[in-house]
Amino acid sequence: MDLQNEKQLEQYLTEQFEWFHRHPELSYEEAGTTARIRELLAGAGIEILPYPLATGLVAVVRGQKSVPDGQDRTIALRCDIDALPIVEETDLPYASENRGKMHACGHDLHITAGIGAAILLQARREQLCGKVKFIFQPGEEDARGALKILETDVMHDVARIWGFHADPTNAVGVIGIREGYVTAAVDRFAIRVQGIGCHGAHPDDGIDPIPVAAAIIQGLHTIIGRNINAFHPALLSVTKVQAGTTWNVIPALAEMEGTVRTMQREDRVLYERRLRETVEGIATAYGAKAEVIWIDSAPATYNDGRMARLGEEIALSQGMRTVPEEQSLGGDDFSYYMEEETAGRQIPGCYLKIGTGVGHPIHHPAFCVDRNVILPAAKYLAAVLTADIE
Ligand code: NI
Repeated sequence: MDLQNEKQLEQYLTEQFEWFHRHPELSYEEAGTTARIRELLAGAGIEILPYPLATGLVAVVRGQKSVPDGQDRTIALRCDIDALPIVEETDLPYASENRGKMHACGHDLHITAGIGAAILLQARREQLCGKVKFIFQPGEEDARGALKILETDVMHDVARIWGFHADPTNAVGVIGIREGYVTAAVDRFAIRVQGIGCHGAHPDDGIDPIPVAAAIIQGLHTIIGRNINAFHPALLSVTKVQAGTTWNVIPALAEMEGTVRTMQREDRVLYERRLRETVEGIATAYGAKAEVIWIDSAPATYNDGRMARLGEEIALSQGMRTVPEEQSLGGDDFSYYMEEETAGRQIPGCYLKIGTGVGHPIHHPAFCVDRNVILPAAKYLAAVLTADIE
């Protein structure tokens, strides 16, 4: 098959996409997926870096044009590769063969478009300055897979990183892109309220944790309205409340879990502090004790302005249309690649959305990518990376 021929490349990538869709694997179990990516890249003569990753891999295309200023130029593209524990409900001829697992987040497209972009750049490496690393990342759905990649030294020479996501709210040929915050910091909390259990008819013999939990929930919901700047997106959801076993016993313990989403770094810090103060203050007022467990996950993703403008220009030059990218209080662990704490230094990045045909949302059992997007997505990413490294 001649991959320099556009029609043949499209057919090849479509077949690979269907293979990945048929063989979804969950976070950190992407062994077959990784083996297939490795085989396809190696078959196209693309170098794979020898990192000791259990799943996922990093490939590199080395440009052969001399860099005018002699400086090392390296950029990266992140493609996530894992699937979800969902029973697929499509009648596609290439539907999942692993029952209970499904590429319902479009990561099969991410893999295929990434491979396509690597093949296109490899063919043009004589006209390319610098290096482009292609990161095929495991465990994005777990929100921490990026940290596995960051345990290697892959980012040590990377100046900028690009990421993208399938977007079923837009047609094929539409790129969603914007400067600034696009995904939120994802934090999780658990609260244990310790009271003293007693008879349901004699609450004066104990300390009932249930009214304490209720007051805490009310209190937590005021943090956004009273403490966070009204122009800053933020939210809190208490998603689990558990206490008691029967109707006539006051339990000793009430437990809650939930999530906090913020965009600005200072709001994240403020939220954690106010949450702890609110929980502890209310528990004390009721004579109970409370414990807060706060678990940080991925930080917010902030798109670099210059990169966002470049992504937009390239989309227009490819005959695509751009729309302002929808901001989301969902998260993506792509942000870890840009953070000083996890990547070693702050690295500018840009996370954009590629329209995959309007249909069911991501994570829906009938989610479906229009295959007509595969070649345009690969060409678009190749063009963005080429322009960014010039
Ligand atoms: Ni996803």
